[in-house]
Formats: sequence, C-alpha cells, structure tokens
Amino acid sequence: MAEAGRLLTESMAEVGRAVRPGVTPRELDRIAHDAIVARGAIPAQLGYQGYPATICLSKNEIVVHGIPDDVPLREGDIVTVDFALIFRGFYADMARTLPVGTVGAEAQLLVRVTEEAFWKGFAEAQPGKRMGDVSAAVQRHIESAGFWVVREFVGHGIGTSFHEDPQVPNYGRAGRGPQLRAGMTFALEPMAALRAGNASFLKDGWTATMGRGNLAAQYENTIAITDDGPQLLTGNPVPAASVSR
Ligand code: MF3
Ligand code: CO
Repeated sequence: MAEAGRLLTESMAEVGRAVRPGVTPRELDRIAHDAIVARGAIPAQLGYQGYPATICLSKNEIVVHGIPDDVPLREGDIVTVDFALIFRGFYADMARTLPVGTVGAEAQLLVRVTEEAFWKGFAEAQPGKRMGDVSAAVQRHIESAGFWVVREFVGHGIGTSFHEDPQVPNYGRAGRGPQLRAGMTFALEPMAALRAGNASFLKDGWTATMGRGNLAAQYENTIAITDDGPQLLTGNPVPAASVSR
C-alpha cells in the first residue's frame, strides 16, 4: 500500500503542476490517467460504480465527485482533485484542494484549515484510541476556525478494495466508535465549507454541491496505523510547527 501511495503521490504532483488558469478539467484528467498508467498502476475510479473519469474535479462550491469537463479553470477558482489507483492489488486514495492562480483570502484560509484538520485527526490515529478521537479532532479544528464540517461524505477503510469498513466521519465524539489497531489502513478525508449547509447532488447523479457561493475544500490521504503511531501512505509529511491552533 505504501508503494501504491507513493505512485499516487507522484501522479497527484503531476496534476498539481498543471493546475493553472486556462487548463481544462478534462486535460487534468488525461494527465492523471497517463501518470498512473506510466507507473504500471490502474486508475481506480474509472468505471467505479459507473464513474466516467479518472479524477474527480470539484470546483468552488462543488464539494466532491465533480466530473471533469471542458470549461477552462479561472484565476481565483479553488479545485479539489481527488483520485485513486490500484497497484499490485492494493488501493491508494488521495485528494487536494488547489488554488488556481491567486485566490481570495477566505478561500485560502478554508483550504489551509481543512489541511490542518487532517493533521489533527492524523495525530489521533493511534493504536488503542477510537475512531471518534480522530473524528472529534477534525471537527474541533474546522469548527473552531468558524467553518462547517461537511457531513454527507466520510472517509473509509481501504486496502484490497476501494471502500471498506470502518467509516471515518469528520465529526463525532472522542472515546466513541471502533477501536483503532495496528495494521488498519484508511482514507482520512476532511471536507469543510465556508458556512453551514447540506450537500446536494446535481442532475448527473455524481456532482455534489454545497450551494451557491459556499466554497468547499478537502484534504485526503491514505494512512496506516502502526504500533508506533500513524503512518502516511500518500502525501508528504509537514513539519509539526506549520500545524497551528
Ligand atoms: N475518491 C473518492 C473517495 O475519497 C471516491 C470517488 S467515487 C468515484 O472515496 F466514483 F469517483 F470513484
Ligand atoms: Co476516499
């Protein structure tokens, strides 16, 4: 899984480098697809429950599962790129919300707080703790910054299949939920919005929106619980000093 995660992290970096004003989501989808295949891996989302693309590209108030189209990205957009791959039978899953050029201060803060919430949850992913400890840490960080925890979607176990038990909610009560054990692997994926609201689906049956102007962000990594604590399987470690509040 760590190898799958490394290949996914590299593929995400290729997509990230291509995000700029004028690029289309469909072009980014192609870049992700080619990056995965070039590494001998398989796009996990293409055809998954009928999903028609390699990546989900969720722009501004779209929170998850936006389908790549031909509308060029614009300066000031924020875009969540979310995708997964399979390598030697093992899955890895990762999402980042990326700024397109220069974005507004509120959008920047939302993106930063959502990432910080991931690290707060990550720190709780210890053997002997409970899933509620992870969930509560994520929720507390997002809410203390004045943002809204998106509740309609959750993280998930992952391994030799894409979505497994247990669920990994981004809200909950410390001390509750399944006990965490070394060897568990899951996708921790905080989603936050500027203000309270419910996600609703567009007519395509996939695209989930928070509603007009209610920007949303996400930060997802695949992680493992080890005897020594949490281990990152996708993404790069950040220095603890940069995780504030
Ligand atoms: N990558 C998403 C997740 O974090 C799932 C996307 S659903 C798909 O679980 F159909 F687009 F693959
Ligand atoms: Co996921």
